[in-house]
Amino acid sequence: MRALVTGAAGFIGSHLVERLLELGHDVVGIDSFTDYYATFLKRRNLAPAQSHPSYRFVEGDLITADVRRLMEGADWVFHEAAQAGVRASWGATFDIYTRDNVLATQRVLEAAKGSGITKLVYASSSSVYGDAESYPTTESATPQPLSPYGVTKLAAEHLCYLYWRNYGVPTVSLRYFSVYGPRQRPDMAFHIFGRALLQRAPIRIYGDGLQTRDFTFVSDVVAANVQAAQQGPPGSVLNVGGGARVGLREALRHLERLTGTAAEIHYQPMQRGDARHTSADIHRAAEALGYQPKVGLAAGLAAEVEWLRGLVDLPAGAAVDHQ
Ligand SMILES: NC(=O)c1ccc[n+]([C@@H]2O[C@H](COP(=O)([O-])OP(=O)(O)OC[C@H]3O[C@@H](n4cnc5c(N)ncnc54)[C@H](O)[C@@H]3O)[C@@H](O)[C@H]2O)c1
Repeated sequence: MRALVTGAAGFIGSHLVERLLELGHDVVGIDSFTDYYATFLKRRNLAPAQSHPSYRFVEGDLITADVRRLMEGADWVFHEAAQAGVRASWGATFDIYTRDNVLATQRVLEAAKGSGITKLVYASSSSVYGDAESYPTTESATPQPLSPYGVTKLAAEHLCYLYWRNYGVPTVSLRYFSVYGPRQRPDMAFHIFGRALLQRAPIRIYGDGLQTRDFTFVSDVVAANVQAAQQGPPGSVLNVGGGARVGLREALRHLERLTGTAAEIHYQPMQRGDARHTSADIHRAAEALGYQPKVGLAAGLAAEVEWLRGLVDLPAGAAVDHQ
């Protein structure tokens, strides 16, 4: 198969590219290296796949690139590119979110119209649920995003459905729940906590630490993407979670054990846009895709900490966080 992966230098996109290459597919990747976090990290993400003979990477912006041309001959499109991050989506930066999440997705969908692709998998988010009406949350729960980021991810999800209904673009939206693992973005909790512990620096927790998350290891998200491309029902929306709901403090205890450091915690007020809990009901993905998360939190965090050890000595400014 031939696949186009957008956001190919990002955390999830770069893992997906490598998995597709491993499975013997031809891959074209595109990324514009937005400055949300250090480009240095994105270039590192990209490096292992870049010399693969079946891989072609294009540096480009989905808003201005000839996406139709990039899709030529493609069977599958994986749309991972986005402006991520809940907390930075308020205020003046919102136009970046509408541009890179809504407009960019519309451009990808326009290019996909009549292109002959057999699946377009869109990276949606648990943030569309906000403080969900029930846990574990099923896809039929009313989406009520708590952040502008969640609003843009939901808008793009609706666009995917519209293009399926009106133009037959075979889209599948996967709602990822808190993805973690090696290459995790530097604005995400485990990355910040793990690096702070390795550097014996204090940790800021927003809220009381009793919030819970359905953490999903990156290889499970990648597996769901491949399954969705192969057999995802067009027009569907599927939760992709890690299979368990874990408290932030419990996760921190794993990180303390893995780094051999006791955390010095400073509690801060809860941030606007953060949901109190997330928990995925994954029955629909199990039935439709055969999806089953395989990596538990202890093993997943061990892999992330191993990777973080290689970042501790990075030059100053190489890893910027946006808390
Ligand atoms: N990481 C998570 O926990 C999580 C959870 C739910 C959903 N998601 C979604 O998964 C996807 C991947 O997230 P990630 O954590 O890997 O983020 P990331 O920031 O590491 O990767 C996204 C990549 O998209 C690129 N990009 C942004 N706008 C672009 C544009 N206009 N043209 C080309 N490239 C562009 C960025 O440069 C970046 O490398 C995103 O759509 C995100 O919303 C992530």
